[in-house]
Amino acid sequence: MRVGIVTGASSGLGRAYAKRLDKSGEVEELWLIARREERLTQLADSLEKPCRILALDLTGEESMTLLRDLLEEERPLVQYLVCAAGFGKFGRAEDLTGEETGDMIELNCHAAVEVTRLCIPWMRRGSHILEIASCAGFQPLPGLNLYAATKAFLLHYARALGVELKGRGITVTAVCPTWVKTEFMAVARDTANPEAVRHTPFAMRPEAVSAWSLTVSRRGGAVAACNPASALLRVGSKVLPTAAVMALWDRLRSM
Ligand SMILES: NC(=O)c1ccc[n+]([C@@H]2O[C@H](COP(=O)([O-])OP(=O)(O)OC[C@H]3O[C@@H](n4cnc5c(N)ncnc54)[C@H](OP(=O)(O)O)[C@@H]3O)[C@@H](O)[C@H]2O)c1
Repeated sequence: MRVGIVTGASSGLGRAYAKRLDKSGEVEELWLIARREERLTQLADSLEKPCRILALDLTGEESMTLLRDLLEEERPLVQYLVCAAGFGKFGRAEDLTGEETGDMIELNCHAAVEVTRLCIPWMRRGSHILEIASCAGFQPLPGLNLYAATKAFLLHYARALGVELKGRGITVTAVCPTWVKTEFMAVARDTANPEAVRHTPFAMRPEAVSAWSLTVSRRGGAVAACNPASALLRVGSKVLPTAAVMALWDRLRSM
């Protein structure tokens, strides 16, 4: 059974990937993971392919045990893994609570790495891993500090993993969009300092991000920048001094 596993499938980018994989002949079944079960059920009802709903909080160790056991029981061929579960919080380091900080690191970094680790043994030549990072990971971002740091972690992890798995014919793509129109903003602004990032201009549609990044992945690309602004940031972060990029961002975010 060729399956596509999507975390964060109850909303935004994860849901867009699930819909797109549903139209692909490359997978026969979808495994949809997030906490909100009713959302996953609604999505599954709207898809053509059979779906397995896994209502899991990925910050919990027991969720990983459940996923590991399910993989061993079903022995699927994981054709696609999309790690889209994640969140950000606007604010400086001192604005965030210990819980917000811990959960963000746990979900954006540890959960993505652990789900990936569990799935790799079930992949074969031609399988794809998409780690949903962000253009925030290209450089440090004051006022979005911790989130940007988690995305830099995921970007670096995905790049090196891609090299490690190249010999096995498994493609790893770090997806790095700019802002995307999802529930992300509502979650990010639900913080002690929602105005730390005042504007989120030129937001993309999740459907455009999923379509483009899947194309990049199928072509064997290691990074999907998703739009010209993200591509510019990627190059800018390499050629400009980091202090200058941070100073520019610091000005833009508070205008
Ligand atoms: N939107 C943007 O501007 C943007 C830009 C660049 C990158 N990204 C990245 O894209 C990814 C998807 O975000 P999005 O924009 O689609 O936001 P979203 O609409 O808020 O979706 C986030 C998803 O993560 C799931 N999730 C949150 N906490 C979870 C937990 N503890 N366990 C399991 N699932 C959990 C949510 O489902 P439940 O609440 O049902 O659990 C939801 O399905 C994130 O990694 C985000 O950092 C977003």
